[in-house]
Amino acid sequence: MSIARAAELVARARRGVALTGAGISAESGIPTFRGEGGLWRQYDPVKVATLENFLEDPAQYWRVARERGPAVLAARPNAGHVALAELEASGHIAAVVTQNTDGLHRDAGSRRVIELHGTGRTVQCLDCGVVESRGDVQARLADEMPPRCAVCGGTFMKPTVVFFGEQMPADAVAQAFELARDADLMLVVGSSLVVYPAAEVPLVAARAGVPIVLINAEPTPIDDLADVVIHGRSGEVLPEIARLALVASGG
Ligand code: APR
Ligand code: ZN
Repeated sequence: MSIARAAELVARARRGVALTGAGISAESGIPTFRGEGGLWRQYDPVKVATLENFLEDPAQYWRVARERGPAVLAARPNAGHVALAELEASGHIAAVVTQNTDGLHRDAGSRRVIELHGTGRTVQCLDCGVVESRGDVQARLADEMPPRCAVCGGTFMKPTVVFFGEQMPADAVAQAFELARDADLMLVVGSSLVVYPAAEVPLVAARAGVPIVLINAEPTPIDDLADVVIHGRSGEVLPEIARLALVASGG
């Protein structure tokens, strides 16, 4: 049974690396981008989350963010996030590499978290550089569209996330690849694996001979590369894997 097999691999791991995507936060009430009910089914990602278009008209992004904000700001970690934090605390996972910008891994207690696409918890004014919390800016969106900087009045308030067409944080990507090369287990959770270089991380691990456990609600392009594939909800599957792994390793 795949869950038992996955738990065996996790129980043996000491330098496991998890790569997560929007799917791990779906059960926290945050819509994913692709797949069932995905955000990019409602909005055109190029229009909404591309740097060039943002600079042309920040309101396009903020109108979507005004709608999505409450769910993201109210979201709490689910059992999947907590299971990964437990596996780090018990020494099976060394780090979580995430594409998510919702901050839920740290909220769940994960300590080593590499945010490849930045964090949506803060917003930065491109004119004067001041940084505000996303919650403070969200509170102004009812009257200000696009939001204005509280210090200089500038209208280019940009969330500290990586937009399409923007440089990824080079050190985060380098760290992720190094961890993947050095891992003794790669756990891929809740990603459609279509956005690079994040989707490259499990390939780096595979090339280094690292076993892959893949948990996703639907098939992904690397299913046939994985040692174990579980098509299910991470909020149910991960806690079960963690429970069995901790029992097996006497954790
Ligand atoms: N449990 C496990 N998997 C799930 C769940 C769940 N409860 N719910 C959805 N999924 C799966 C979907 O089937 C889908 O394959 O999670 C995957 C989410 O894929 P995407 O929505 O494409 O999210 P992600 O892979 O993180 O996107 C990568 O694209 O738009 C950019 O910057 C954005 O970081 C994002 C990047
Ligand atoms: Zn400013």
